[in-house]
Amino acid sequence: MLRARIVATGSYLPEKIVTNQDLERIVDTSDEWITERTGIKERRIVGGCQAASDLAYEAAHAALKKTHIKAKDLDLIIVATVTGDMPFPSTACLLQARLGAKHAAAFDLAAACSGFIYGLHTANAMIKSGMHQRILVVGTEVLSKFTDWEDRTTCIIFGDGAGAVLLEATKEKRGILSTHIASDGTLADLIMVPGGGSRMGCSRETIMKRLHFVKMKGNETFKVAVRTLEELASQTLAENKLDPSQLSLLIPHQANLRIIQATAKRLGLPMEKVFLNIEKYGNTSSASVPIALDEAVESGRVKDGDYLLLEAFGGGLTWASALIRW
Ligand code: COA
Repeated sequence: MLRARIVATGSYLPEKIVTNQDLERIVDTSDEWITERTGIKERRIVGGCQAASDLAYEAAHAALKKTHIKAKDLDLIIVATVTGDMPFPSTACLLQARLGAKHAAAFDLAAACSGFIYGLHTANAMIKSGMHQRILVVGTEVLSKFTDWEDRTTCIIFGDGAGAVLLEATKEKRGILSTHIASDGTLADLIMVPGGGSRMGCSRETIMKRLHFVKMKGNETFKVAVRTLEELASQTLAENKLDPSQLSLLIPHQANLRIIQATAKRLGLPMEKVFLNIEKYGNTSSASVPIALDEAVESGRVKDGDYLLLEAFGGGLTWASALIRW
């Protein structure tokens, strides 16, 4: 039986740091409020002309450097993003060109913060079916360019970054054991960028109304996220006949510390078994899980044979999980 195994991870964060104190000077907020409500202390923001494919390239390059796989060996590139360089061509095609991955097909996938795990789900299915052998999955976001820096309810949350994994087919009894994806489009209005698409194309009016920025009903999103993620994590473990105590590490989407704590509590998982970097980077949407995974691996928190649970929740609404045996 073929499985997809993660053979390398990589990540990239832009250099510029925006602290809560910096935000206090821009909007009516405080370090205390942001820390207490979200767990975020600072976030990374791109320099002027950096775009999603630039961040994706750095993360992918970092992953490729760690393995025998060369860019020309890749047969598929999936880029999860909702903040791509432009409507088209896809950010995945721009990345393919930068990497020189000339044998790889490339496409983008939009599932907001769940995008990376949606990408893993897709790549896993393609590897298991034998259609593809070596796949690069990237989550990359430049949310700072879609953030309304006058809106204190959203600008405190988001950050920029990218994370990447290289997947290869294996016959070993490890790798991706299961993935779960789900959506509820009836709740699309909880978090969205209303302008700039075919519904409300760019015009003087859409710009004046600030419709090209993220609009979020934070409190409602929070409640759905807590409920959904608790259920998703429990279901994923149950379907794999695993007890939460067998889990080595939960690697959650870094959206809000209180959401993460609620999921851990529901599983009876001590916080030492939860990977956190929200304090440093905020919510980097589809980049959040692969950045956290890369940092967990690089810091030695992931060992051979470990069970890892990845989970995320985001606009759409979408949610997703992946259970991995490292
Ligand atoms: N600084 C200070 N006060 C703020 C603030 C800020 N940055 N943002 C909002 N407030 C105020 C509100 O105006 C409100 O004031 P009021 O009571 O006078 O009306 C009060 O704080 C409470 O607002 P509320 O939205 O209920 O706060 P909250 O506890 O729900 O926290 C979020 C807000 C956004 C941090 C939280 O809801 C959240 O993280 N939601 C999930 C977001 C998410 O995960 N989104 C991405 C999906 S992946």
